[in-house]
Amino acid sequence: MSDVASHLENDRFLRALLKQPVDTTPVWIMRQAGRYLPEYKATRKQAGSFMDLCRNADLASEVTLQPLERFDLDAAILFSDILTVPDAMGLGLYFSEGEGPVFERPVRNMAAIKALGVPDPEGELQYVMNAVRTIRSDLNGRVPLIGFTGSPWTLATYMVEGRSTKDFGKVKGLMYEDPAAMHLLLDKLADSVTLYLNAQIAAGAQTVMIFDTWGGTLTPQTYRDFSLNYMQKIVDGLVRENDGRKVPVILFTKGGAQWLETMADTGCDGLGLDWTINIAEARDRVGDRVALQGNMDPCVLYAEPEAIRANVKRIIEDFGLPTGHVFNLGHGIHQYINPDNVKVLVDAVHEFGSALRA
Ligand code: CP3
Repeated sequence: MSDVASHLENDRFLRALLKQPVDTTPVWIMRQAGRYLPEYKATRKQAGSFMDLCRNADLASEVTLQPLERFDLDAAILFSDILTVPDAMGLGLYFSEGEGPVFERPVRNMAAIKALGVPDPEGELQYVMNAVRTIRSDLNGRVPLIGFTGSPWTLATYMVEGRSTKDFGKVKGLMYEDPAAMHLLLDKLADSVTLYLNAQIAAGAQTVMIFDTWGGTLTPQTYRDFSLNYMQKIVDGLVRENDGRKVPVILFTKGGAQWLETMADTGCDGLGLDWTINIAEARDRVGDRVALQGNMDPCVLYAEPEAIRANVKRIIEDFGLPTGHVFNLGHGIHQYINPDNVKVLVDAVHEFGSALRA
C-alpha cells in the first residue's frame, strides 16, 4: 500500500484518480443522494426545505450516507449545492416547487457586481464546513469524501439570470455587452470558490470536483476566456495535499468534450466526461496526463438490467486500461430512476472492472 489514504478501508477511488493500481474500477454517481431514493425524500421532508437540509449537518450527513447503505459505492459526495456560494454573497437563494433555484436579487450590471463581497467559508458558509466535518466523522474511513463547487461561469449564469435558463440570454448578453463587468464577477467567484474549496479540504474533503455544468453553452473562445481561465485560477490556488495525502482535483464541463486537451492542461488530476464522447477517444486525446470519470448516459438507467450491464461493460472495455478510470454517469441521476437499477450498475462496474484486470 502507498501512503495515499492508508487509513481508508476503500481507497480505490483516490488511487484510480492518481493512476495507481486498483483491484477494480471504482464507481460513484452524480446526485447519488437525491430524490430517486424514498429515504432521501423522507429526510428532506423532515428537514422542511432543501436549504434547511443543507444547513443541518446531521441530516446532511444522513442523506450523504443513504446511498452507501444501499449500494457498494466507492466514494461519498458532500450533500450541499453549488448555489450556496452566491447565496452567501447575498443574492437570496430559494427553491421554488417545480421551478428549481431562484435568486431574489440577481446581479445584472457593474455596480451590483462591484458591491459583491467574497464570503468567509468559516463565516456565512460555516454550515457547509460543519457538514463536511460531520460526514467525515460518520464515514469513519469507509470511503473517501468528495467536496465540490460550481465553476465561476456556471455560478454566474444563475447569478445573472436569477433562475435556470434555456437560452442564457441575460448572462451571455452581459458577457458580450460589458466583458469587464463579467470578468470582475468571474474573478470574485474564482477567489470565493478557491477559499471555499480549500476550507472544504481543511475540514476533511479528500477530493474536490468543479462542476462547470454550463461551460458547454459557450463558443471555443468564450469558453477559454470566461470559463476555463477561471477554473485554471482555482486549480492554481488549491491546496493539493492534506494530512499527508494528495487531494485530487476533477474538472467537469458538461458539453465540453471538444476542449478536453486544454482542460487537461490546467494541471487537474481528473476530467469528468458527459456521454457525448467515446471514452476510448477521450483517453487517446488526453493520454496519461489525467484520469477520466464517466460517462454513461443517465437514461440507460431507465432500461432493463441486461441493457444496463451491456452499457457498463462497453464503457469499461472501451477505456481498457487497468487504472485511471472512475465510473460515473455523464450527468446527474434522474429523479424517476428505480434504485434497483443503480444496484445493477454499481455491481456491474465492479464485476466487469475486475474481469478487465484478471
Ligand atoms: O451529487 C450529490 O449527491 C451531491 C449533492 C449535489 C446537489 N446539487 C444536491 C441537490 C450536487 C453536487 C449539486 C450540484 C449542482 N447544483 C449543480 C451542478 C451539477 C449538475 O447537476 O449539473 C447545479 C447546476 C446545481 C443547481 C441546482 N440545485 C439545480 C438546478 C437544482 C434543481 C434541480 C431539480 O431537479 O429540481 C438544485 C437542487 C438540488 N441540489 C437537489 C439536490 C438533491 C434537488 C432538491 C430537492 O431535494 O428538491
